[in-house]
Amino acid sequence: MRTPVVAANWKMNKDLTEAKSLVSELLAGYQDAATEVYIAPPFVFLNEVNQHIKGSGMQLAAQNMNAVESGAHTGEISSSMLKSVGASTVILGHSERRDSYGETDAHINEKVKAALAAGIQVIFCFGEQLAERKSNTHFEVVQSQLASGLAGVTTEDYKHIILAYEPVWAIGTGETASPEQAQEMHAFIREYLRSEVGADVADQTRILYGGSVKPGNAADLFSRPDIDGGLIGGASLQAADFLAIVNAAS
Ligand code: PGA
Repeated sequence: MRTPVVAANWKMNKDLTEAKSLVSELLAGYQDAATEVYIAPPFVFLNEVNQHIKGSGMQLAAQNMNAVESGAHTGEISSSMLKSVGASTVILGHSERRDSYGETDAHINEKVKAALAAGIQVIFCFGEQLAERKSNTHFEVVQSQLASGLAGVTTEDYKHIILAYEPVWAIGTGETASPEQAQEMHAFIREYLRSEVGADVADQTRILYGGSVKPGNAADLFSRPDIDGGLIGGASLQAADFLAIVNAAS
C-alpha cells in the first residue's frame, strides 16, 4: 500500500505577509491524515514557513537546489542550506526549470544525486510537451527523461524519490490530462520501473500527477490505480482549494 502524497508548489508567488496568512489558513483547516503533505514556498520563505508548520504533519520542500555544496555560485542555494531551514524534500526537474532556465537531463541528474547524497528526498518532475504528445512520442520522451534524470540512482535511493508526471501542456493551462490519459502514462511509468529497477521499487514508488489539478478533478485522478497523489501549482495558492485536494487523496 503506497501512502498518498500531495505537494504544494507555490512557484514564484506570494510575499511574506501573504505566505504567512496562507500558512495559517492551511494550519487552521489541516487534519493530519493518511496523506503526506509537502509545502514548497519560494526559498526566502522556507525558514518562516517551517516555523509555522513544524510539528503539524506537513513537511517543508524547496523548489530547486544547486548540485554543488558551497562556493562561488551567486544566487544559488545548496542542500545543506535547505536542510538547515528544515526542508526534507526538494522538487527537481520541473518543466519550468527545464524550459526557462536551460536545465538539461544531465544537469538535473547531478542535482538528484547531490540531494540524495545529502539525505534530501527528491520530487522528480518530468513530462512531455504538447507537440510530443501530438506526434505520439510521449512515452519515449518520458522514458528518456526518467533514464537520464535518474541515471545512477540505486534501488535503495528510490525510497527517497517521489515521481511527478507533469505533461507540460497541462501545467497552468487549465487543461488537465484526462484521468484515463494520466493513468495510462502512470501505468507505463510503473512498468518501466518494474523492468528497469525491479518489482519492489515499482510497487513502492509514489507517482504523482501534476498539471491543473483542482478540487473538482482531484478525486477522479487520485482514484486511478497508479496515481498516488498530485503536485499542485495554481490551486495550492488558495488554502481551501489545496485542502480539498489533500482530502481527495486520503
Ligand atoms: P498547475 O502547476 O497545478 O498550476 O498546473 C503544476 C506544477 O507545475 O507543478
